[in-house]
Amino acid sequence: MNSFINGLPKAELHLHIEGTFEPELMFQLAERNGITLPYESVDALRKAYDFSNLQDFLDIYYQGMNVLRTEQDFYDLTMAYLRRVHAQSVRHVEIFFDPQGHLERGIGFATALDGIHSALQQAEKEFGISFGIIMCFLRHLDEASAQETLALALPHRDKIIGVGLDSSERGNPPSKFEKVFARARAEGFHAVAHAGEEGPPEYIVEALDLLKVERIDHGNSCLQDRTLVERLADFQMPLTVCPLSNTKLCVVDDIKNHPLPAMLEAGLRVTINSDDPAYFGGYLNENYAAISPLLNNDQSQLAELARNSFRSAFLSGERQQALLADVDRYVTAQN
Ligand code: HPA
Ligand code: ZN
Repeated sequence: MNSFINGLPKAELHLHIEGTFEPELMFQLAERNGITLPYESVDALRKAYDFSNLQDFLDIYYQGMNVLRTEQDFYDLTMAYLRRVHAQSVRHVEIFFDPQGHLERGIGFATALDGIHSALQQAEKEFGISFGIIMCFLRHLDEASAQETLALALPHRDKIIGVGLDSSERGNPPSKFEKVFARARAEGFHAVAHAGEEGPPEYIVEALDLLKVERIDHGNSCLQDRTLVERLADFQMPLTVCPLSNTKLCVVDDIKNHPLPAMLEAGLRVTINSDDPAYFGGYLNENYAAISPLLNNDQSQLAELARNSFRSAFLSGERQQALLADVDRYVTAQN
């Protein structure tokens, strides 16, 4: 692993905590909870991580999260992720969780949230990683279900900074969730949405105009619409791009053809993220390393991507300035 990338201070802004469930931990928790997995071994499970599209992945992802039952399970899952990214110089994380994926299995809102939140608090103390939690609505479900989930979240608003939108994109446009996003924003939550991963550029436009999001998760398909690219660039709207996810889910045929250089060339504010690292073959540094050759391993461009991650985070001005200064200090010390 490129040692410049390893030590570079960075933020992760697109990470599904349920997508950090490594097969080893999944087997351990399955045993603890008396659950039999439909796989013989860790290796057999890992072999199943071969996807042709988003839905292929989601089917396995929802099956995996079924093992998460107790607050301790969510704590252990989150802490395992935080230990890994602490070793990768990640200084700030904003993590997604899918409350509806747990509620429909009878796992209470607070069980998942409190387990995730206490691990994040512990990591802030122990590792100095600052954090935010974003709850995502599952877009394959209806808006009424999202509204109920938002109502459940209100008593826990001190632990949640924003709402997002994930799951099966095609056929589930942002417009379906206009009202629940309006309510969430009125309640003071930040708003982000997955758009343009498999869906058309029109879904990105809807996320901007109807959901009034502050970041676009993925956003790849914007490149099909020159006017949209100009709009995103003019507003410096952050895109949380996930290179290894894009190759594993066949959004991009080969990492060599990843559109990241074209995105940067167009002046878009791109950040690099891992999405579901246990399923897609790498955490944050592996994602930086995957795209580094496309930038001729140019350290100044890699550092700029890290700066973009802090610029695009929901951080107080003071912490943001301190982290940006850390990047500058690191770059200077390398040269
Ligand atoms: N896209 C949509 N929904 C998701 C993803 C993703 O990459 N990961 C987990 N839920
Ligand atoms: Zn995602």
